[in-house]
Amino acid sequence: MRRSSTFISVFSLAVVASCTLPILFSGCGTSEASSSATPTGISPQKFADGVHAVMMADRTVYATHVVTNLKKQGAPVTADEYWKDSTNAIPLPAQMFRMGAELVDENPQAGFKYALRSQWPLNEQHTAQTDLEQEALKYISDNPGENFYGEETLGGKKYFVAVYPDRAVAEACWTCHNEHPNRGESYPEFAKDDVMGGVLVRIPMP
Ligand code: HEC
Repeated sequence: MRRSSTFISVFSLAVVASCTLPILFSGCGTSEASSSATPTGISPQKFADGVHAVMMADRTVYATHVVTNLKKQGAPVTADEYWKDSTNAIPLPAQMFRMGAELVDENPQAGFKYALRSQWPLNEQHTAQTDLEQEALKYISDNPGENFYGEETLGGKKYFVAVYPDRAVAEACWTCHNEHPNRGESYPEFAKDDVMGGVLVRIPMP
């Protein structure tokens, strides 16, 4: 039973990947872009939840089994923000995440976009870009544990937007951010479980 449900969810994402989203919602599925799944399609919310799960799994695996594992082994390779200009250095998990998001952004077949966002960004690229993004960041900070889902129109086109809280799950999260030279005047003192920012998924709607 477990195997078949895994198969169905992987299959659903594969369907999305092989069928561009606007087609999925109007042609392959139904034109109703609601939060409930349909027998023939996948709702934007389900799609966003699914890709978010993949992104976070990849980041966790990289952080745990690559970055932390190298450290444990005393390897001469470390994750360093300035990895490009250093020897024996690899990118930080947040940089891996951003570089992946940039490649997806350039890929016309991807059919959606994603990014890290924060009210207190170390990298200003992660500042909210729209009113809805701002509202979403405030919402996930004020309601810890909850996701934000909404819709917005940009340049005459409608988008479904999901923002998931990114929380201080490990000591390294708050230590590194709290001590970072980029922190501004109003930068909070992050502690365990604080919402440090959000992962944004934006999907075009028909
Ligand atoms: C060794 C330092 C370091 C560690 C550890 C670290 N971060 Fe970051 N984080 C950064 C840097 C540097 C950036 C900006 C990266 C870039 O250029 O895209 C960043 C970016 C972010 C962002 C996007 C907003 C921003 O500040 O630009 C969030 C959210 C975030 N980190 C959350 C976390 C969480 C949650 C953890 C723990 C699971 C974590 N970070 C661990 C250094 C770190």
